[in-house]
Amino acid sequence: MTSTLVTGIAELVTHDPSLGDDPLGIVTDAALVVDAGRVAWVGPAVQAPDADARVDVEGRAVVPGFVDSHSHLVFAGDRSAEFAARMTGEPYDGGGIAVSVAATRAASDEELRALLARRVAEMRAQGTTTVEVKSGYGLTVEDETRALRLAAEVTPETTFLGAHVVPPEMREDRSAYVDLVCGDMLGAAVPHARWIDVFCEPHSPHAFTEEESRRILTAGRDAGLLLRVHGNQLGPGPGVRLAVELGAASVDHCTYLDDADVEALAGSDTVATLLPGVEFSTRSPYPDARRLLDAGVAVAIASDCNPGTCYSSSIPLAISLAVREMGMTPAEALQAATLGSARALRRDDVGHLAVGARADLTVLDAPSYLHIPYRVGVPLARALDLGLTPTPT
Ligand code: NIG
Ligand code: FE
Repeated sequence: MTSTLVTGIAELVTHDPSLGDDPLGIVTDAALVVDAGRVAWVGPAVQAPDADARVDVEGRAVVPGFVDSHSHLVFAGDRSAEFAARMTGEPYDGGGIAVSVAATRAASDEELRALLARRVAEMRAQGTTTVEVKSGYGLTVEDETRALRLAAEVTPETTFLGAHVVPPEMREDRSAYVDLVCGDMLGAAVPHARWIDVFCEPHSPHAFTEEESRRILTAGRDAGLLLRVHGNQLGPGPGVRLAVELGAASVDHCTYLDDADVEALAGSDTVATLLPGVEFSTRSPYPDARRLLDAGVAVAIASDCNPGTCYSSSIPLAISLAVREMGMTPAEALQAATLGSARALRRDDVGHLAVGARADLTVLDAPSYLHIPYRVGVPLARALDLGLTPTPT
């Protein structure tokens, strides 16, 4: 294994408070040494030690690779017509998920594997180096297990989402479907999954109630999975409080929150993961990130890349929307898409570039991280390393 010296870094964002005077741990005119896939040294270029190899990024900024802690990448089919209808006023209620379920069930393993690989490559090309991938478009024991098996080929952050919606063939017997999710489906999913998630949403007839969600999450926890929740997406609801009550690592969407939700989050270890691409693609109001940050809530930003509510894999876009529409500063938004989303995955080896962290470097074709939202829509970011399949510590 050879060490590599990365030079020519105009601005290096480390998130290491011991480096630099600001909360982002910025080092200007910096260099960084990578050894055995980890950051071995960081500092001013003039003090850089020798290494076996050298990469010059020629005056660009380097930031921690984006951590996309929420995506649904294992699906087939196309729902662009649903998007177009929403842009002219059609509301989103989760009914379109059944369209993706039918197409995904009909696809071969090879088709799904190729679609997944393309989406992961698209993410890397935009600076994402860690990605969580959910199942949820299979909704039978075989199809959910297959989705998780394929997801595990590209990331260790795999999430069992059998409780995405009640599938059409079981609509007349919801409780039998919840029994299946908590029983045979969970049993088959466990060897391939790190997390369990549930779409807890009283405003969708297809999603799960508070009681159903509690049952499913508790069964998952008893089977050894860690918890995350889709909550408070379509209106006020029980998702956030349930996530906090059960000690979920993250509750995602958080579009409609009341004061009790914010208070519960502030006093907890549960991260509020915001998905502004969803508000963009469903014409919903953006969540108030400022309110959460001012209350002391840990906030993450992720893409939610999926065929229904947001078919965008772009973390730079999510950062730009968070800054423009959600009251975050560029520094807070970058931190939320790296350190915050690493915390949402209970990972301390990614999302920052302190010595010892995974050397997941994202290079910007720009001199500063400020250019991510400043140059909205311009493809500035790309992953420099090879690590979309990190091993959790
Ligand atoms: O995170 N809300 C539930 N699930 C996805 C959307 C899935 C779909 O419409 O295909 C979400 O928004
Ligand atoms: Fe989602």
